Amino acid sequence: MSEEVEWWEYEDAGEMAAAVAGDIAFVIESAIDARGTAVIALAGGRTPIPIYAKLASTKLDWKRVTIIPGDERIVPLGDPLSNVTALAKNFLPKGARVVPIVPTAIADYKAAGRSADALMQDLHWPLDLCLLGVGADGHAASIFPGPDFDEAINGPKERRALGVMPDPMPLDAPVPRVSLSLAAITAARALLIAIRGNEKRSVMEKAIRQGTSSPYPIGRALAGTELPVDIHWAP
Ligand code: 6PG
Repeated sequence: MSEEVEWWEYEDAGEMAAAVAGDIAFVIESAIDARGTAVIALAGGRTPIPIYAKLASTKLDWKRVTIIPGDERIVPLGDPLSNVTALAKNFLPKGARVVPIVPTAIADYKAAGRSADALMQDLHWPLDLCLLGVGADGHAASIFPGPDFDEAINGPKERRALGVMPDPMPLDAPVPRVSLSLAAITAARALLIAIRGNEKRSVMEKAIRQGTSSPYPIGRALAGTELPVDIHWAP
């Protein structure tokens, strides 16, 4: 169980973007100093977009940075729904290594998950940082209720990624997914959450109260990590 969850509140999304980008940059620099490389997983969705723009403008040794999406929709590369698109747009021009975890949109979502897991087995591990967004339903990464929920939460510790068929399908991206496993998320050296709005704030507060019995994936992530977790919130 995370011993401490620290809330960081901001006046607006711009202030949060500057602060979270600064925190991520610090983790990247520390990882490069310590191990010569940084491997980070960044969230999909809309909330982190200003964070990535701010982070991309930061002077870092980007050629030593590997970035993966913490989860991905199983769609062709370049599809507007693909999470890696925003990461490639912001960080490839800086010289970072942006690794798509779903290089081809295959029909068999479990096979896509196994392929992403195999790809991640070649990365420096554990992750130096995992930035998570949270859905209004309490999902994090692409750990959603459905037939793969238990495997995502309680699967083998060495499993880094898996295929997920959300049920019910999320309205804004009704496609199968590949997600970091909970084990991969909670093993990260730094875990940051960035959310906006009161609805998600109350989901987070409830998830923290519920702990290990939380029905929310984000609640299980918080309960599963020994790390202090920073929750960044803006209206
Ligand atoms: C996804 C995202 C997901 C996201 C939340 C919040 O693929 O759907 O990675 O986990 O972080 O859904 O999304 P917003 O920031 O757009 O609300």
